[in-house]
Amino acid sequence: MGRLVCVSNRISLPRKSAAPGGLAVGILSALKRTGGLWFGWGGETVDHEPGEPDLHIREGVTYATIELRASEFDNYYNGYSNDVLWPLFHYFLKGMHYSVEQRDAYESVNRTFAQKLVPLLTPDDRIWVHDYHLIPLGRRLRELGVRQPLGFFLHIPFPNIEMLRVLPCYAELLRDLTSYDVVGFQTENDLQAFHSGIEHLFGAEALKPDGRIRIGDHVLRADVFPIGVDVASVQREAAEAISTEVVRRMVDSLMGRSLMIGVDRLDYSKGLVERFVAYESFLETYPENIGRITYLQIAPLSRTDVRAYAEIRQSLEQAAGRTNGRFADTDWTPIRYLNRNFPHATLMGFLRAAKVGLITPLRDGMNLVAKEFVVSQDPQDPGVLILSTLAGAARELTGALLVNPYDTRAVSHAMRAALEMPLPERRERYNAMMQVLKRNDINAWTRRFTEALEHVQGGSSRVRVLGTTA
Ligand code: G6P
Repeated sequence: MGRLVCVSNRISLPRKSAAPGGLAVGILSALKRTGGLWFGWGGETVDHEPGEPDLHIREGVTYATIELRASEFDNYYNGYSNDVLWPLFHYFLKGMHYSVEQRDAYESVNRTFAQKLVPLLTPDDRIWVHDYHLIPLGRRLRELGVRQPLGFFLHIPFPNIEMLRVLPCYAELLRDLTSYDVVGFQTENDLQAFHSGIEHLFGAEALKPDGRIRIGDHVLRADVFPIGVDVASVQREAAEAISTEVVRRMVDSLMGRSLMIGVDRLDYSKGLVERFVAYESFLETYPENIGRITYLQIAPLSRTDVRAYAEIRQSLEQAAGRTNGRFADTDWTPIRYLNRNFPHATLMGFLRAAKVGLITPLRDGMNLVAKEFVVSQDPQDPGVLILSTLAGAARELTGALLVNPYDTRAVSHAMRAALEMPLPERRERYNAMMQVLKRNDINAWTRRFTEALEHVQGGSSRVRVLGTTA
């Protein structure tokens, strides 16, 4: 079996304070299992031609980081990736600001990635490209003569063609995706949306009855590979962290009150304003909870140079301030709202200490925090997950209280139901979800995707064996 080469925009070198983003957690767990190479931007921008990749080896994984030109970075990352593709793929059309300069920079950075990666490749490698920043990379690698199996996994939702074709260059984007051998999505919805684009561009005959897609001579497999979590490691982290000083201090400070918790990057797609409003409505509708519940929202800042992120930050500060101003007492703050990050293990300890997990994005590819919340619970006395139906995780976590995040009344009602849920029902829901989470953990995700890549024959155009959709 050849080496696994993962490519993503940003690389997260192993350190204690990882951000709660799903991509880095997923790639790192995959590579730690198999060993291999992780290639991506190291976080530095330069005013000259980017140099050769920097290589570091840690715990069996080689990290190859490159620099990017400062003159392109803003248009590539803040612009095309996060001000065009991110909002469009999350169905926030009003948040999308397209410009041709941004698109040019996106193309150019993808060419740089390809040029810098090619010299590091060996003939047996299997290349696994991650996420929306790097959609054109597969085609660029093929143009440079790369013949190894090429896979692409999209961590975020994929929009239906009626949404996608708002993008002036949607056809190129679809063509770029079809230059891979394996294209993976988080959910069946995303796969169907991709099919709608293929049918629109290439005709229904491109979609073969066995699930393959044929475009000219090239056959690719598009399928669903829902990302999971490292169950044993999260359980261990959570159980150990609960007795650490930082988690104990937080728990002591609750003075016996029940904890509701949310952990999200500060992003408008996470539905934080709607969640704060629902909590305010919960306190108003069920006043017996005033002074008896603490809601801790951890929301590390993210993509601060994109305007929509600065705007959502303001709205959140206002919403938290309003609820606290209205309901707080001299010895109680209804919402503790923190724009900072914590080490992953500490976060797992906080999740374990909570009676209720609030994960209510307006749209989300998967949401690994939802899965981590369940896994981190004490099996004897588990907390309850309130989960948005618009998160990919809702497909698997049917034992959660599923809510529409826009429905303030339904969310506030779910908060009460979660806080009052009897132990037998909590255990039943927890056990049902744990079965799914163990079956489809991070190892299953890596295994299924890498097996799909192994079944690619001849590197560029034939897929021999086809699995079934998850
Ligand atoms: C989160 C998303 C990923 C995305 C990543 C980028 O983890 O779930 O889909 O690739 O953010 O993070 P960054 O901080 O580099 O914008």
